[in-house]
Amino acid sequence: MKVLVVGSGGREHALCWAIAKSKKLQKLFCAPGNGGIAQVCECVDIGAEDISGIVNFAKLEKIGLVVVGPEAPLVAGMADCLEDAGIKVFGPSAEAAMIEGSKGMMKDLCAKYDIPTANYARFDECNAAKEYIRAHGAPIVVKADGLAAGKGVILCRNENEAYAAIDHIMTENAFGNAGAEVVIEEFMTGEEASFFALVDGKHTLPLVAAQDHKAVGDGDEGPNTGGMGAYSPAPIVDKAMAKTIMETIIEPTIRGMAADGTPYKGVLFAGLMITDAGPKLIEYNCRFGDPECQALMVRLESDLLEVLLAAVAGELDKVELKWSRNAALTVVMAVNGYPGSYEKGSEIKGIDDAEAGGAVVFHAGTKTDGEKILANGGRVLNVTALAPDVAKAKAKAYDAVAKIDWPEGFCRGDIGWRAIDR
Ligand code: AMP
Ligand code: GLY
Repeated sequence: MKVLVVGSGGREHALCWAIAKSKKLQKLFCAPGNGGIAQVCECVDIGAEDISGIVNFAKLEKIGLVVVGPEAPLVAGMADCLEDAGIKVFGPSAEAAMIEGSKGMMKDLCAKYDIPTANYARFDECNAAKEYIRAHGAPIVVKADGLAAGKGVILCRNENEAYAAIDHIMTENAFGNAGAEVVIEEFMTGEEASFFALVDGKHTLPLVAAQDHKAVGDGDEGPNTGGMGAYSPAPIVDKAMAKTIMETIIEPTIRGMAADGTPYKGVLFAGLMITDAGPKLIEYNCRFGDPECQALMVRLESDLLEVLLAAVAGELDKVELKWSRNAALTVVMAVNGYPGSYEKGSEIKGIDDAEAGGAVVFHAGTKTDGEKILANGGRVLNVTALAPDVAKAKAKAYDAVAKIDWPEGFCRGDIGWRAIDR
């Protein structure tokens, strides 16, 4: 069958790389893709948020399955429009994607179905929000309700920072309409983990856990990014912990959403805080994590396309997934300046050398110019390795990083430290 992946990041490169190995695949497209994705499939020049463009292309090419990578087109209704046009799609409806699209709605769902998460309140008015902060004190967390490209969460150490966060979001409109409402919540402490499950509307199939590194600098210093590296498995999520996460968080969510008339389909990504009182939900995402997906895809031994088709058909109960026992680790190489302002267009050399030792270099933000590979985004490459444990995967990934000749790029040097310390 013909398959279309929507998106242009490292996550989509990893999805394309995995789907390209499927025996069910006839032809693979990606819209819009990037310089690395173009090496595994045909990239088409349609934006990831151009819903009518994607629907028209899928009809024209008789696409058998569309896999939507990022959240924005899902929240905007891409899956609904494809389904209306009779095209199979992996990804939730717009209503179900609100689990990521509105933090307030997600929190209300947790409250209704008794899912462990930070205590919270919702506000659409500044003064009431500040009154709540005064009453609860700091540390406290202020979040823009809507999609803010991962930047809408402000961790406030004291009350003044929290008032400033309210002004930033609600008065200065830093995130536009996404900040018309805020969620204020209790500050949780613990170790974070990312947990993934596939959902077909009726059945829920746990995938595996991963851990991300959100801060830009070594030792988790500096501003937050989309993620500077990840590994899987996450030692903190052992078998017993995974069972608790499924039973107390994922399954009640899926049952609750079905009962509320917005059944979930696709991949559900739970950002978790493993606290002394057990796992608690930080947030849900309606998509794979980036860069967690890259680590997951190199560990997956099952045919991804067959698994996604089973999810679309409501047959996840018939799927048994096979995962490598090895650990996967991915190091994000970003361009100098990221997550602040940066320049595009610097040339990257040495990717073939880096891959010669067995690493896989996924492209997150590149474009080609003839034979040249140029940086074309903030996060640019995801250097990924599989090895018997996290320490060995780290060594293999950084050996590959050392072969990449790109003076304008940087990476963290300590990806995997938490697992290795343990
Ligand atoms: P989010 O975009 O909701 O995943 O939040 C970004 C990051 O902020 C998370 O990965 C956590 O490190 C942190 N965070 C969010 N909510 C909380 C909370 N209630 N308590 C402590 N840290 C939080
Ligand atoms: N790596 C975190 C995310 O994809 O949201």
